[in-house]
Amino acid sequence: MKTDLFYYTGTGNSLWAARTLAEALGEAELFPISRVRADAGRTDAEAVGLVFPVHIWGVPRRVIAFLDGIKRDPSRYHFAIAVNAGQVAATLLQLRGLLQERGLALACGFDLVMPSNYIPWGGPGPREGQMKRIAAAREKIAAIASNVAAGAQGPIERGPFWQNLLFTGFNRLAFSRVPSMDKSFWTDPRCNGCGVCRQVCPCGNIEMKEDKPLWLHRCEQCLACIQWCPQEAIQFGKRTPRYERYHHPEVRLQDLTAVPKRQEEE
Ligand SMILES: Cc1cc2nc3c(=O)[nH]c(=O)nc-3n(C[C@H](O)[C@H](O)[C@H](O)COP(=O)(O)O)c2cc1C
Ligand code: SF4
Ligand code: SF4
Repeated sequence: MKTDLFYYTGTGNSLWAARTLAEALGEAELFPISRVRADAGRTDAEAVGLVFPVHIWGVPRRVIAFLDGIKRDPSRYHFAIAVNAGQVAATLLQLRGLLQERGLALACGFDLVMPSNYIPWGGPGPREGQMKRIAAAREKIAAIASNVAAGAQGPIERGPFWQNLLFTGFNRLAFSRVPSMDKSFWTDPRCNGCGVCRQVCPCGNIEMKEDKPLWLHRCEQCLACIQWCPQEAIQFGKRTPRYERYHHPEVRLQDLTAVPKRQEEE
């Protein structure tokens, strides 16, 4: 089954998951949601997969916007992987509803636990624990590939009922505040003006002013800027100076900034 995999990522976990799934599926192509045109989802692929991080117990704004560009073809197979740090909550139920509103069905949705990149609450934890999560995720992706190849209907994975209820409420409260959450970013004296933060930002939210990043308040809170800064000079609030940075060990900076093949050809 020819499959297009659209991924969104801040620190590479979702890119790695999409790449690992593509290898397992065979006939699959990868596209970064933040770097393809808005109508890239109007493809003729027989299956479309969405791979994205859970943000504040829900679907990130950029992924929601991308759904508008997906071809209204109810006969096509749609599936998703919600990459998270242990609390998928009702993210995949939300996605199913968003697709339904657009006349499309979510055949199956999978919860994939990976190391946490949410540095305002702490680092990714000991290296051994990170590698265990990645190894378990690799196994789960093999199972997801078998499900997708067989055209499975279900499951739509979710957290416990209390979590879905409570955290979905938090998601709805926080959602409109996300663009201005960048007010908590600041740089320490290690910033050397290299511009990597500007390059990795998926939404052009960073401008360089006098060799220092300036955040423009249309942030998606992917945390790529703080996590990829080579000097670890970006901070968020008061606590991040003591927390370790994270990006997926098999994902390089160039993987995030590369222009997708199909876009280059057009
Ligand atoms: C703003 C933000 C909110 C997050 N919210 C959640 C959450 O609600 N539940 C969860 O399990 N993980 C949450 N995370 C962690 C990420 O989903 C997780 O680390 C994911 O693997 C990151 O994927 P990426 O490397 O592709 O960006 C959050 C991360 C960020 C940046
Ligand atoms: S990536 Fe870091 S060092 Fe480079 S300009 Fe941005 S904040 Fe400064
Ligand atoms: S400013 Fe930083 S956190 Fe916000 S969208 Fe850009 S890279 Fe992500």
